Amino acid sequence: MTIFARRITETSAKDFGMVGRAAARGGDLIHLELGRPVHDTPAHIKAATIAAIEAGHVHYSDLQGLPELREALAAKLARDNGINVGAEGILVTNGLTQASFAAIMALIDQGDEAILLEPYYPQHIGKIELAGGRVVSAPLDAAAGFRIRRDLIAPKITPRTKLIALINPCNPTGRVYSREELEELAALAIEHDLIVLSDEVYEEIVFDGNRHISIASLPGMAERTISCFAFTKAWAMDGWRVGYLAADPSMIPALMKITTNEVTHVNTFVQHGALAAVTGPREPMERMLEADRAARDLVVSRLNQLPGITCAAPEGTIYAFADITGTGMTARAAAEALMDEAGVVVEAGSFYGPTGEHHLRICFGAQPLDRLGEAMDRIGRFFNAR
Ligand SMILES: Cc1ncc(COP(=O)(O)O)c(C=O)c1O
Repeated sequence: MTIFARRITETSAKDFGMVGRAAARGGDLIHLELGRPVHDTPAHIKAATIAAIEAGHVHYSDLQGLPELREALAAKLARDNGINVGAEGILVTNGLTQASFAAIMALIDQGDEAILLEPYYPQHIGKIELAGGRVVSAPLDAAAGFRIRRDLIAPKITPRTKLIALINPCNPTGRVYSREELEELAALAIEHDLIVLSDEVYEEIVFDGNRHISIASLPGMAERTISCFAFTKAWAMDGWRVGYLAADPSMIPALMKITTNEVTHVNTFVQHGALAAVTGPREPMERMLEADRAARDLVVSRLNQLPGITCAAPEGTIYAFADITGTGMTARAAAEALMDEAGVVVEAGSFYGPTGEHHLRICFGAQPLDRLGEAMDRIGRFFNAR
């Protein structure tokens, strides 16, 4: 007899991909598999947090999130994202992970289906399964640059479909979806009365004049989108565990039924740090983005010099999604051999679903430029020797 509930025994084990394999192996490895920013959290955010501790902000606070933080976020969302939910439509969460967990737990019933655009973000799978839902993958077309296409998604919609998860800008492909692509997805959601769970954790990390558009800002989408954000990536605050979601205020009590039972609320003084990020200077973030762009250019140009490899410049995020079809290797074999023989850890594209086969995801935002150069030398020697 097992002591555990069926939600544990009848759902798949969490797969950490190459992150788990590299941790088990250890040794002198250059890690380009995990999306952990190389930068330090800006000084003014740390200072505001320390000041909050010293001022005694060490107690329970508003369950939905500090009112002054939610006010500041509401102003930011209205100004930058075209999302107008007010402070009452914002819920501060423990990173984006808790925002999407709360949304999935609040929306998905036993047997409901959730569509993931593939290549997908694998961390959504466990959440959907824990809620009793079924993951339905909608593979996008690698040859067409992983564009959102209505004809690839519509056939996956059934009477049980409840939501579609969107990652924009997209991990792992680096796509920043155009207005036209988002309109195609929005039209489907409206026609079939679906909720869109929009993960915008990379909203600030866009290159070359690309513009990030929040799908909730499109006509008819405000009432059917849960938009999730975090300070994790662009502000280099991954360990702080702070993010937020924006939704129609009528949805917030249902979402808080999950978050308050789970963690009560987000750490009070961390929220003061988040407030400093929203209201303080943007220059520190812009300097980090400039470094990310230089890292992207280095990685993409070096990859495109290698035999059998092509890599489109990612429009956003901190990932290059390189096509290794011409090397004749599978993604998993290439990732394992790169770790074992070259000492560089990257993620196999197949971790993001079968459409990611023959791709490697390389995080260029996780190492300083000189270490990244060393990693690219090692990757170069590896593929040139084959
Ligand atoms: C698409 C996507 N969503 C969510 C997360 C996790 O965000 P957080 O650390 O804020 O929970 C990541 C981290 O890599 C991510 O790539």
